Amino acid sequence: MSRILLMHPILDPGPQILAEAAEVIAYPAGGPLDEASIRQAAEGCVGIVSQLMDPIRETVLSTPGLKCVSNVAVGFDNIDVAAATAHKVMVTNTPGVLDDATSDFAFTLLMTTARRVVEADHFIRSGQFHGWAIDMMLGQDIYGATLGIIGIGRIGRGVAHRAKGFNMRILYYDPQPLPQEAEEQLGATRVDLNRLIAESDFISVHVPLTPETQHLISTPQFNAMKRNAILVNTSRGPVIDEAALVEALNAKKLAGAGLDVYEREPAVHPHLIPMANVVLAPHIASATVRTRSEMSAMAARNMATAVRGGRPPNLLNPEVKR
Ligand code: DGY
Repeated sequence: MSRILLMHPILDPGPQILAEAAEVIAYPAGGPLDEASIRQAAEGCVGIVSQLMDPIRETVLSTPGLKCVSNVAVGFDNIDVAAATAHKVMVTNTPGVLDDATSDFAFTLLMTTARRVVEADHFIRSGQFHGWAIDMMLGQDIYGATLGIIGIGRIGRGVAHRAKGFNMRILYYDPQPLPQEAEEQLGATRVDLNRLIAESDFISVHVPLTPETQHLISTPQFNAMKRNAILVNTSRGPVIDEAALVEALNAKKLAGAGLDVYEREPAVHPHLIPMANVVLAPHIASATVRTRSEMSAMAARNMATAVRGGRPPNLLNPEVKR
């Protein structure tokens, strides 16, 4: 029976789907996540079921007999897809199933940061609430505000859809314009990045991490933001220059940030920790029971199909499997 390496546990029904297709070898829990260790564990395996913290690059991808890497995530910046293609290794991801959960969470961060919910909760729990005051915990209006969406893929569109219910003016920046019908339906206007940055009260980032998007938001963008702006990131940490964000927040160039992802995850810039106007979440935008289970099932089905010699439905490098 073929063997596959399961880097981390996945949720039901994923394990069952994998077990029906192959012998599953579990990577040691808490084991080192470096390429050499993963390569060693992958010897003799035709597949690796990976997650976003696993570096799957040349050293791993050149494992003899490896046929498929199935990432349990829609993002795949942890995998060198070009190297995989060169080694004829299929790479798959889990698109679609996490769009709603992630869009919901981007909006949750937007609202929580704007209305200072985390700060308010701490305020009560620390015994500081001694009565209503007209100037207590003033936040930013959401209804009718301008939302700038960077990256109008499925999740960006999901956020726009939610924003419509809040009567927001929606701007988006994306090299690829939406079809006119979709723009009209969402009430979204395509603008360049400079205009989006300058006019938005809320900026929500929904781009994959690529060399082009790394530090897409850095000092020049912070300098151009409205002073009341709130930045939300549920995509990948390095899209935002975290040191520049800290500097900009200290200089009050924007009002706050809602972050689910970090430049050097799981490390968080230490200066963000004490900031009351920053809401920090531990990369949980897709973390609902249904979504994580569907991601697990989808990744397992991708792998099972590859192991059986088929073409996995979510193949990122179709040139490997003609
Ligand atoms: C992804 O899928 O890429 C998210 O970051 C985790 O759900």
